Amino acid sequence: MASFIIAGGHRLSGEHRVQGAKNAALPILAATVAVRGACTIRRCPDLLDVTATLNILEHLGCVVKREGGDIFVDSTHLTSCAIPEHLMREMRSSIVFLGPLLCALGQAELSAPGGCEIGARPVDFHLKALRALGVQVSENGGKLLCNDGAGRRGARVALPFPSVGATENLMIAAATAQGITIITNAAREPEIIDLARFLNACGASIHGAGESTIVIDGVNRLHGAEHSVIPDRITAATFLCATAITGGEIRLRNADISHMDAMLAVLEYAGCRLRAGAGEFHLAAPSRLQALPVLRTMPYPGFPTDAQAVFMALATLANGISVITETIFENRFRHISQLQRMGASICVEGSTAVVQGVDRLHGAEVEACDLRAGAALVVAGLAAQGETRVHDVRHIDRGCANFEQGLRALGAKIIRES
Ligand code: EPZ
Repeated sequence: MASFIIAGGHRLSGEHRVQGAKNAALPILAATVAVRGACTIRRCPDLLDVTATLNILEHLGCVVKREGGDIFVDSTHLTSCAIPEHLMREMRSSIVFLGPLLCALGQAELSAPGGCEIGARPVDFHLKALRALGVQVSENGGKLLCNDGAGRRGARVALPFPSVGATENLMIAAATAQGITIITNAAREPEIIDLARFLNACGASIHGAGESTIVIDGVNRLHGAEHSVIPDRITAATFLCATAITGGEIRLRNADISHMDAMLAVLEYAGCRLRAGAGEFHLAAPSRLQALPVLRTMPYPGFPTDAQAVFMALATLANGISVITETIFENRFRHISQLQRMGASICVEGSTAVVQGVDRLHGAEVEACDLRAGAALVVAGLAAQGETRVHDVRHIDRGCANFEQGLRALGAKIIRES
């Protein structure tokens, strides 16, 4: 298991180019299965989850080639509709292969993705939505067996919650269903818009992505296309927080700040100076941040759950009390016990954490329990006095490409120890 060793107390300053969005690249790469042809997906980040997705594509019979951030996928000759358990286990978001396999082969066999570090992660919304299109779904022995039956037919589907993954699976499955599908209470994340853009470039007819109601007019088939993935708003915010907690300044390149309103508002409230320039975004932080406004994680465009941990790291050293409530996942406070080992003053009441800013954190041995919790511990270590060792950083490698290199380029003292 690899660890990061961080010598805290160094102010970050400089420029960082934001990676492509993990949560856009993963569903778009899965969706190439629905396109019986060749696609080029550009600006894919170098992440363990992307590699896991490519392993699944190859297992299904796709020809996959990777050149830096460009990934070429040819799904003309699929050889299987089944994803084995060991590949499903590598990445729970592989449930999003369900829609693409139904489009391509009219059937799919996946093992039910287990829960993960942050929660049970059920897939009931996905299955109910696909059944509404006429898909036959049976579950036995932990396996999901799906087939098109008489063919997918458009339907009106009201999601009980704006689930990102369920919206994605449904959008893809409806793209080649007969007739019109209307999704209400759809997720509105920028990654949904990016997936719809890719599918429309492949010949789909999807309207309203990014709104709560999406209309999909089914087409006969999808053809190959080229697509560049949007910037990753969460890793962009992670680098902004890494800079802010050290009282530094940063120029972000390739960020799409229109995706980051809720997070930028919090950074400004805490005392950071923000400025958007031509193709870049600038943040300058005060020597000590003010306490955060009351934060509740919400579906987009609300404050994103994926940024909750890293903003809590900011709050541990801010001047005053910050109140943070996690409303999306049931087990997404696992960074708190680790931050407390570093001297943070946090008390938890149900899904709400009350953070009393302290004057200093001290370095400690801590454990990355999941991707975003791990990134938050690195951010805290950058400002802590002394040395922090963050263990099991493979969680971070799932979502932050070349994380330590990017931080070192800004002046952080961080090394990876295998
Ligand atoms: C996506 O997960 C993201 N992952 C998550 O990012 C992100 O936190 C989440 O959306 C919310 O924004 C990817 O895009 C690969 P949901 P997803 O379906 O689709 C419940 C990261 O760190 N639910 O919107 O799985 C679910 O348990 C990851 O990059 C059901 O109950 O999230 C959760 O409480 C973590 N039944 C809530 O809905 C279902 O069938 C939101 O889940 C589906 C979801």
